[in-house]
Amino acid sequence: MIVLGVESSCDETGVALVHAHADAVPVLLAHTLHSQTDMHRAYGGVVPELASRDHIRHVLPLTREVLTQTGTSLNAIDVVAYTKGPGLAGALLVGAGVACALAAALDRPVVGVHHLEGHLLSPFLSPDPPCFPYIALLVSGGHTQLMQVDDVGRYRLLGETIDDAAGEAFDKTAKMLGLGYPGGPALARLAAFGNAQSFDLPRPLLHSANLDFSFAGLKTAVMLQLRKCGNACEQDKADLAAATQAAIVDVLVHKSMHALRSSGLQRIVVAGGVGANQHLRARLNEKCTEQGARVHYPELALCTDNGAMIALAAAMRLQRDSSLARRDYAFNVLPRWALETA
Ligand code: KG4
Ligand code: ZN
Repeated sequence: MIVLGVESSCDETGVALVHAHADAVPVLLAHTLHSQTDMHRAYGGVVPELASRDHIRHVLPLTREVLTQTGTSLNAIDVVAYTKGPGLAGALLVGAGVACALAAALDRPVVGVHHLEGHLLSPFLSPDPPCFPYIALLVSGGHTQLMQVDDVGRYRLLGETIDDAAGEAFDKTAKMLGLGYPGGPALARLAAFGNAQSFDLPRPLLHSANLDFSFAGLKTAVMLQLRKCGNACEQDKADLAAATQAAIVDVLVHKSMHALRSSGLQRIVVAGGVGANQHLRARLNEKCTEQGARVHYPELALCTDNGAMIALAAAMRLQRDSSLARRDYAFNVLPRWALETA
């Protein structure tokens, strides 16, 4: 079975082809990606209407590219998958519209995929895939969640942020430090030159009994420290970047280890854009080694949004339940959608 996957939930257009054979873990044939960050940078964040229009410009050229790269004809596609939600309504509609039109023209079934399911299954495309069950730490620009993943489609929410997402905390702090957009990678780069001990930042909910997170207070604390500095010099900014990264990572690692202990599981998967953060990876690796647990990551290129994870999630779902593929091409998108109900 060859699955074409289309991702367009936010500011990346991604298209991929995945081959799924019987029960084996699906294999990625190729994926293409267009990031809109250069376009949104001037506005300091994603402009939804511009995002939708840019998806329209890129989705078909990227589809042609992925077919050419692999020497696959349109007719060889067995299923078309697209991100049905959550995300920006207009952006989602572009991917859904193109995917359903293509499937209708080819007389093939379509599958609408939950974006976060794509993220949390994405390590299956790495050379060191996990096996079920595992804990998933989902850390993206819009979500921070700990889930228990018992199998494909069997997800239990253990805890989540009560305000800002971890990626949002990275992005908002980066903005305050004048680092532009997207803030996460820029803040991580600057943090490498700073001393995290120079500023004492809070670790919200670190010792709460549950697995929830809160990051909104952190940006206020950073703002107060910046004010105290007066005219913050480059070193102050690097130190604040390092301190912010350390605070976010401390909380993410502490809660992840808590989730492993309380579930009795020995495997954790880290997915979503913040999963690309090297400091988070180093700290988690260290703690997991200490506790005899395994940690799995998607390939770095598949940490942020991409079409491969959407094709993969559809393929893995269909391997378990082929009735999910539908030939009803009337589509809707779900900008807000809880993963547990997917
Ligand atoms: O999963 P993703 O690509 O898109 C969403 O679904 O939100 O995640 C994007 C988020 C942004 O907040 C971005 O700043 C953050 O991931 N991010 C990082 C890094 N790379 C991306 N945060 C910290 N360190 C990084 N290296
Ligand atoms: Zn994402």
